[in-house]
Amino acid sequence: MSESSGDALLASLQSGELPRHVAVIMDGNGRWAADRGLPRWRGHREGMRAVRRTVEAALELGIPYLTLYAFSLENWSRPEQEVGALMHLLNEFVEREIDDLRQQGVRARVFGDRERLPPTSRSSVETLEADTAEGTRLNLNVAISYGSRDEIATAARRLAALAAEGRLDPADIDSVRFAEELYTAGWPDPDLLVRTSGEMRVSNFMLWQIAYAEIHVTPVLWPDFGREELFAAVADFQKRERRFGGVTS
Ligand code: IPE
Ligand code: IPE
Ligand code: MG
Repeated sequence: MSESSGDALLASLQSGELPRHVAVIMDGNGRWAADRGLPRWRGHREGMRAVRRTVEAALELGIPYLTLYAFSLENWSRPEQEVGALMHLLNEFVEREIDDLRQQGVRARVFGDRERLPPTSRSSVETLEADTAEGTRLNLNVAISYGSRDEIATAARRLAALAAEGRLDPADIDSVRFAEELYTAGWPDPDLLVRTSGEMRVSNFMLWQIAYAEIHVTPVLWPDFGREELFAAVADFQKRERRFGGVTS
């Protein structure tokens, strides 16, 4: 896509209904590296550049919520060396991007089981959140050490404990109350879920929240993702007819 055709597409996307929340399963870093005979961590490093491009494209479009799946609970089972490289890249990303994120008006948040993060990564994440807390243009949510079933089970456990203590009537537990116990409390549900690298699965990501998300799967590997691919995903979204279980008029 040339710069000018990209700008024409940008204008056309902005004249349509934009998703309020785009969630992305960033997949394919390992295959990107393997295709080039490189070690997997090189794919992850390249993937960080794709994160930057995607954040900039979301800002350009004016999408208020962007959620990125960076590391799942199941990913802890990968070889120690790969996990170590990913944790290192997280620290590097925060160091390199934090000033730009703040200046661009991005509010970054990390969600998942952060108890499992090494202390250096935990403090990187805390710094990132504290230093960008004033951002109002884009909510950037990064799922790290995240598993949706674990999130849901934890919510159920908290509500059960409140009920057992007599502080909550079980009859008051409905889907709205339940959602208040999830990491995503207060955020709109994703309207658009993107998965890169062609895999047709959700891999334990936001199972509750994606109930009515439109799904866009692209064969592009995450390190090759950027402005053009995000715009294409939004263009695809704008062609969909959302029904939420109702009938069309
Ligand atoms: C996505 O890329 C990044 C993480 C899950 C951390 P992968 O590392 O899963 O890459 P593939 O799927 O093996 O190509
Ligand atoms: C999903 O990718 C998790 C992230 C993108 C962080 P995986 O590569 O871990 O998922 P599977 O194993 O292909 O389902
Ligand atoms: Mg993968």
